[in-house]
Amino acid sequence: MNSSAPIGIFDSGTGGLTVAKAVRAAIPDESIIYFGDIAHLPYGDKSTAAIQAYSIRIADFLLQRKCKVILIACNSASSAAYELVREYVGKKAQVFDVINPTIDYLREHYQRTNVGLIGTKQTVTTGVYAKKVDELRKEISLSSLATPLLVPMIEEELVNNDISKGIIHQYLADPALEGITSLILACTHYPIIKSEIEQYFREKSQQVEVIDSATVVAEALKSFLAYHQLDNKSNKNGDHFYVSDFTPAFESMTKLFFGEQVHLEQYPLWE
Ligand code: DGL
Repeated sequence: MNSSAPIGIFDSGTGGLTVAKAVRAAIPDESIIYFGDIAHLPYGDKSTAAIQAYSIRIADFLLQRKCKVILIACNSASSAAYELVREYVGKKAQVFDVINPTIDYLREHYQRTNVGLIGTKQTVTTGVYAKKVDELRKEISLSSLATPLLVPMIEEELVNNDISKGIIHQYLADPALEGITSLILACTHYPIIKSEIEQYFREKSQQVEVIDSATVVAEALKSFLAYHQLDNKSNKNGDHFYVSDFTPAFESMTKLFFGEQVHLEQYPLWE
């Protein structure tokens, strides 16, 4: 692995740009090659087999671009395809997902807690988080709730208004999340509504730590690169943001997720 090689990041669309943004903030000297599989969006409603096939093809694309790291910036793809992508990539690159660093965060910060989790149907039904929390062998209980309306709500930029407040309230008041003291945002779109979620708990006078996996994974990646002396010291090349399908609406949505609008390059991965 070459320290000046880029970091490959992929997601079903533009939501994973919240992770790319956290990576950029934590390790600004690294080059990023992003792939958003807009042609197959959303992954959250797809079968495990379909997400695995998409993920392997994208991993291959990122390997062709000599990425030293492949970061699966999507909880749905992390749940469905992390092990398979790792096997496929072998020693050619280091594979990160957004789940394991979050589990490590729980291990380091909590001895006992009632953790809530919100995510797509795919992430919740695979039960990957629940299995990994069990393996921690701590007094940590996990209650998960699928919140499928949140992705389209965010993509329609219906945030910080009465609609988002109503939908967020409806989900967070679900009995499944009663008594939680921390909440995992298990979808890479959700950092956009983190402050609204925190506001909900403040209004209820509930002390809940809202855990955003984008920041957690960016810090884990930074430590990994420094520890293995794989960090890019100063010779940053340009970033590239590829998508499997292009619409101007997706390009303007990048501002919401990345903090600045980026140029999306269409790459015909499925032709
Ligand atoms: N970014 C995806 C995730 O983290 C959600 C969007 C989708 O369903 O494709 O699960």
